Amino acid sequence: MLDTVSNRPDLPAEIARRRTFAIISHPDAGKTTLTEKFLLYGGAIQMAGQVRAKGEARRTRSDFMKMEQDRGISVSASAMSFDFRNFRFNLVDTPGHSDFSEDTYRTLTAVDAAVMVIDGAKGVESQTQKLFEVCRLRDLPILTFCNKMDRESRDTFDIIDEIQENLAIDVTPASWPIGVGRDFMGCYDMLRDRLELMDRADRNKVAESIEINGLDDPKLEQNVPAHLLSKLREEVEMARELLPALNPQAVLEGHMTPIWFGSAINSFGVKELMDGIGTYGPEPQPQKATPRQILPEETKVSGFVFKVQANMDPKHRDRVAFVRLASGHFNRGMKLTHVRSKKPMSITNPVLFLASDRELAEEAWAGDIIGIPNHGQLRIGDTLTEGEALKVTGIPSFAPELLQTVRAGDPLKSKHLEKALMQFAEEGAAKVFKPMIGSGFIVGVVGALQFEVLGSRIELEYGLPVRFEASQFTSARWVHGDKLAVDKLVNANKQHMAEDNDGDVVYLTRLQWDIDRIGRDYPDVTLSATKEMMV
Ligand code: G4P
Repeated sequence: MLDTVSNRPDLPAEIARRRTFAIISHPDAGKTTLTEKFLLYGGAIQMAGQVRAKGEARRTRSDFMKMEQDRGISVSASAMSFDFRNFRFNLVDTPGHSDFSEDTYRTLTAVDAAVMVIDGAKGVESQTQKLFEVCRLRDLPILTFCNKMDRESRDTFDIIDEIQENLAIDVTPASWPIGVGRDFMGCYDMLRDRLELMDRADRNKVAESIEINGLDDPKLEQNVPAHLLSKLREEVEMARELLPALNPQAVLEGHMTPIWFGSAINSFGVKELMDGIGTYGPEPQPQKATPRQILPEETKVSGFVFKVQANMDPKHRDRVAFVRLASGHFNRGMKLTHVRSKKPMSITNPVLFLASDRELAEEAWAGDIIGIPNHGQLRIGDTLTEGEALKVTGIPSFAPELLQTVRAGDPLKSKHLEKALMQFAEEGAAKVFKPMIGSGFIVGVVGALQFEVLGSRIELEYGLPVRFEASQFTSARWVHGDKLAVDKLVNANKQHMAEDNDGDVVYLTRLQWDIDRIGRDYPDVTLSATKEMMV
């Protein structure tokens, strides 16, 4: 089973072996530690501890800012490629801060699956739940890793029940823990009938793996103390009776999640999880687009921008657009059409993100993430093709939930501020609205932390101290309708009207009542809380 690289033997082998996924978790559950072990087994780093700083940096706001200053770190960590057995894994990092943001949503548009990490003592926590809901919107397959089993953790059935109930997904145990806390000694691999034992003495040593023949195999008695073994036999028997068996199709459809138990810090259970991602995780999936969907095996190359990172090097105002390849076999130097502007672009210096550093990408396949340095032509949601006018869909822009007015500390610098704000808007870091009446800009975000990050980045990258002030508005809606109807609304409600950074008309609201009133008074226009990021 393990050598099966694809559920679709008709795919080109290079595409079939790709697994592009993200890790979702509540802060502190062990995402960084698990990522590090992935990279270690993927041969991308030599020693545990190299990505450690990142987890710590996330913990406090000031460290987070420092990390943001050091673009190198956060960028090379945005997408990482490494090989494991026959597979090529592309791990896309979800933003570390706990505020839900569009960034997170968009990151998840670039992956085919997610690994959900939960802490065995805490179960499903709030951030995990939120991120899970986002995955569900796209029916992403989810593989679960229950971490920190070396500590006192909850009863295994309780953990599984909680996931099934809170997340409304079937859970099937891929492994079953033997002992808990100080007694935890490893797992019984339910899928491959093996005993996996943890090495407590050496955290970086891969566990011992013993092939057995069912739960009555005498090898079990030689390796597992009697009291733990009787409990294991009893629990596994109950689990087989009460819990659904693994159904690979249900996993791929996002209705069932297999769960592995382990301890990332002790390198335990990680390889089994990686094998699981290879075996049960999906290969690159078809991409929704208009006027037709894109299949990964199409020979022509296409891809879409899901993230833009500006000012990676503050001296040059360069940007890197992160592109998920949707189809084909890409070669460096290819000419692709930028569908929005209909202009050709030579992709001469694309980068592939290997964990330690970025490297020039000579070639890449559907499923891979490449970085394309550019001067601002590439925006989130843009599609690149070999000429066909395809537009990838499903990358929405959300109405912000928090609005503030922003002003330059030095009023003479407001032109500079406008430039900085436009750049962040293109990057997707915030919404920027220019009110039709009055001066200044209104900035909208989804989570409060984003204001602080934005203020600090404007100061750092543009040398421009800014002030945020309360705004009378609380949200924004994009206005749609024929020109006459929209003009009528605009002319009668100037104090509410603004334009976003693409020049689209936006109605700024104070209360739900405002939205209801427009609905009543202007039946020919519609107000929407999302906008597809394409032109
Ligand atoms: P995050 O990225 O999800 O926020 O979590 P991270 O990996 O940074 O892990 C959070 C804490 O949990 C860290 O401890 C880490 O060492 C610990 N941890 C991760 N996996 C395991 C595990 O399997 N067992 C146990 N017992 N602990 C684990 P810390 O004290 O905050 O940091 P550090 O001092 O260990 O670096």
